[in-house]
Amino acid sequence: MKTKMKHIEIALLPVLIFIFFSFTLKGKQNNEWKTPEYCKKLQNDVPCTKENLLLGKALYRKHCNSCHGEKGEADGIKATKLDSPPAKFVVESFCQQTDGEIFYKISQGRGDMGSYKKKLSKEDRWLIVNYVRSLEVK
Ligand code: HEC
Repeated sequence: MKTKMKHIEIALLPVLIFIFFSFTLKGKQNNEWKTPEYCKKLQNDVPCTKENLLLGKALYRKHCNSCHGEKGEADGIKATKLDSPPAKFVVESFCQQTDGEIFYKISQGRGDMGSYKKKLSKEDRWLIVNYVRSLEVK
């Protein structure tokens, strides 16, 4: 009986190792920050006027500058002190996202970035969405 158990354990070992590695590798490769479908379609009701962009800029400077940098290049003063680098906003992959996706990410936060659901009103978050969208891609 004892030897039979040993055989089973030995046979299971490679299986367990395989499962362990496939999970750790998957975690590393699949770092994409996914947004639920319904959030992608959220309507941005804050118009992108010059005045609103200035409001968005002031909010961005206060809350986001320190990590994401003045021009959205992920070079804020805190940027190098984080475990994971802050996102750049002036890249194509960022521009391809919908307003709803950006709004969702600001609201939720992830890793070093906290949630802004309670810190900022919905309107303030949309003002920031408009502002980060207005940053120029090089
Ligand atoms: C303490 C540093 C820090 C602050 C402050 C911060 N962020 Fe972030 N942000 C990050 C980090 C780090 C990530 C990458 C998170 C990840 O992918 O796990 C990130 C990711 C993002 C993303 C996702 C980008 C993408 O392409 O998926 C958006 C949008 C964003 N931040 C917007 C903002 C806005 C707007 C503010 C201000 C209201 C802000 N962040 C404040 C650190 C910060």
